[in-house]
Amino acid sequence: MTQQQFSGVDFPRRFRNALGMFATGITVVTTRTPAGEPIGLTVNSFNSVSLDPPLIVWSLSNDLPSRGLFEACEYYAINVLAEDQVELSQRFASRLDDKFAGLDFETGVGGVPLLKGCCARFECRNTQRYEGGDHLVFISEVLSFDREERKPLVYFGGAYRRLAD
Ligand SMILES: Cc1cc2nc3c(=O)[nH]c(=O)nc-3n(C[C@H](O)[C@H](O)[C@H](O)COP(=O)(O)O)c2cc1C
Repeated sequence: MTQQQFSGVDFPRRFRNALGMFATGITVVTTRTPAGEPIGLTVNSFNSVSLDPPLIVWSLSNDLPSRGLFEACEYYAINVLAEDQVELSQRFASRLDDKFAGLDFETGVGGVPLLKGCCARFECRNTQRYEGGDHLVFISEVLSFDREERKPLVYFGGAYRRLAD
């Protein structure tokens, strides 16, 4: 194994490549603007934190236009994508004006959009936020959740994957 340096022109790429060795699922984090419009983005920084109290974590880039809306919202939902939902991941990672156009969704606490066909969904209260370098880190209380027996969409090495049987 080669020791990597925290400098040099290709440092960001080498760091990303190393981080990409950690396989994750894919989620879409959704909420509503104060005007009631549904918004959401694709997120793979989601993870569990605590069982008692029930807490989860994810981080949001400071560069995104939706940062202020997520920072200020009271509730949001984490939608864990299933293996047949690559299109949803791409849609919510895009800069589309209305990412919910033509999308059939349900409504949770505080009106948060809940996507259909997911492996699991967590409805959260936006409780604690921390500055984390170029991201804002959310640690939030889970108010309710549901789960379906579906295979998850997996992200590894910068590509979408499926679980082997
Ligand atoms: C697989 C994948 C994972 C992502 N994870 C995150 C993440 O954890 N945090 C984040 O801020 N952006 C993440 N992004 C990028 C956002 O989804 C992307 O910047 C999106 O355009 C943001 O939506 P907005 O432009 O409507 O604000 C991810 C993108 C992909 C494809």
